[in-house]
Amino acid sequence: MNNQPSDNFFEKLHLFISRKTLIKLVISNPRIRTEELKSLIVTLVELKSGIRLNVVYRYPTKDITKNYPVDEGIQLIKESLQQNFYNADLFSAGETVQLSISKNNKVNLSVHSISEQLISPLKHDRIKARIIETPGNIYLRELGILNANFELRREMSDKYIQINRYVELLEPFIRELQLPDGFQIADMGSGKGYLTFALYDYLTTKLGKSPVMIGVESRDELVKLSNEIAEKSGFTNLHFITGTIKEVALEKIDILIALHACDTATDDAIFRGITAGASLIVCAPCCHKQIRKNFKVTNALKDIMKHGILEERQAEIITDGIRALILEAHGYKTQVFEFISTEHTQKNVMIVGRKIIGQPIYREKNYESIRELKEFFGIKQHYLEELFVGQAKAEIVDLANKISFGIDKSTLYL
Ligand SMILES: C[S@@+](CC[C@H](N)C(=O)[O-])C[C@H]1O[C@@H](n2cnc3c(N)ncnc32)[C@H](O)[C@@H]1O
Repeated sequence: MNNQPSDNFFEKLHLFISRKTLIKLVISNPRIRTEELKSLIVTLVELKSGIRLNVVYRYPTKDITKNYPVDEGIQLIKESLQQNFYNADLFSAGETVQLSISKNNKVNLSVHSISEQLISPLKHDRIKARIIETPGNIYLRELGILNANFELRREMSDKYIQINRYVELLEPFIRELQLPDGFQIADMGSGKGYLTFALYDYLTTKLGKSPVMIGVESRDELVKLSNEIAEKSGFTNLHFITGTIKEVALEKIDILIALHACDTATDDAIFRGITAGASLIVCAPCCHKQIRKNFKVTNALKDIMKHGILEERQAEIITDGIRALILEAHGYKTQVFEFISTEHTQKNVMIVGRKIIGQPIYREKNYESIRELKEFFGIKQHYLEELFVGQAKAEIVDLANKISFGIDKSTLYL
């Protein structure tokens, strides 16, 4: 491999390191297909002792991370390309460089400058450096958010912003949990899996966590597609299964997310989360048809709710308000907030429930409030409340106690 293209490649690598513009280097395509080591991911880290190359060795079931002094790291990269791998993709702030080696050791180098599109203003937003990186991001490319050159497709910028915002928002909630290796995350109604992939990527690559993540989706074609993309991305503990939120069999749920799961599918998700004793439940509800169809308002509000849009807003408030009350009733500290500007999505309310050890776990008071609300709005039933009806109070208390590693209340500023 002692030829001009590879010399040029290592010159570029030296330059990006010295200018600190290296985003990442991905070494992939093992020379021996059956080799356990699938790829190396190299980034720059600044430690007290100076700049180091951080190398993640990616295996099917685990990642091993090591830091090397720059010269030693570059030597290791050279040897890996001579002996173990056929491909290297180098990403810097301004250029992408691909080195590919053929079976007879012919080396080819291609260099592309990164299009202005990534850094130019889009709508009112600048696509600045975001938490989910685009260079070499296979799942974002496969999902159509990036083009073949790993550049953001203008028409997908809202989705990209939403994905980033969502991961940024979840990060502190997940960080505060004490999670063992192999903790399980269920994404209910995962759809094409945009957010599932991004969260898995961030937790494993950036936070060094080892979750098992399962996307549950009723549409089989989406499940097949998502599993293929997970495999291409080397996400060995991310799986998608066909099933319904209500009935799918899951071994356990430590974190449950449900984003824009339609209508009462959000309630099925919350019910699964609560009854599994999940430590964290995060939902961004979608349409709120069930309550809207049930309103029988006879008081002064009827003169306001005759306007369709106001009736719709009222349905959202009541549906999500009761969901929050039910989460609290089962020992979850609950927050309801807008997670992104309406410019990017209208469906921007998020409900977060964090299971707090020591939080009162059954609050008759909340169910009393729900009864009053239902009476006021002439609502016969709230779907989530109905799911709990029939379960003895003692059983609910027992379910709520099934917590394995929630947050100790004494460590929180509530
Ligand atoms: C609006 S999409 C949202 C997808 C994804 N969570 C996201 O935010 O990009 C809702 C998805 O939930 C699925 N879904 C709706 N109800 C479901 C249920 N009861 N069980 C499983 N999947 C469901 C739909 O097929 C659809 O793909």
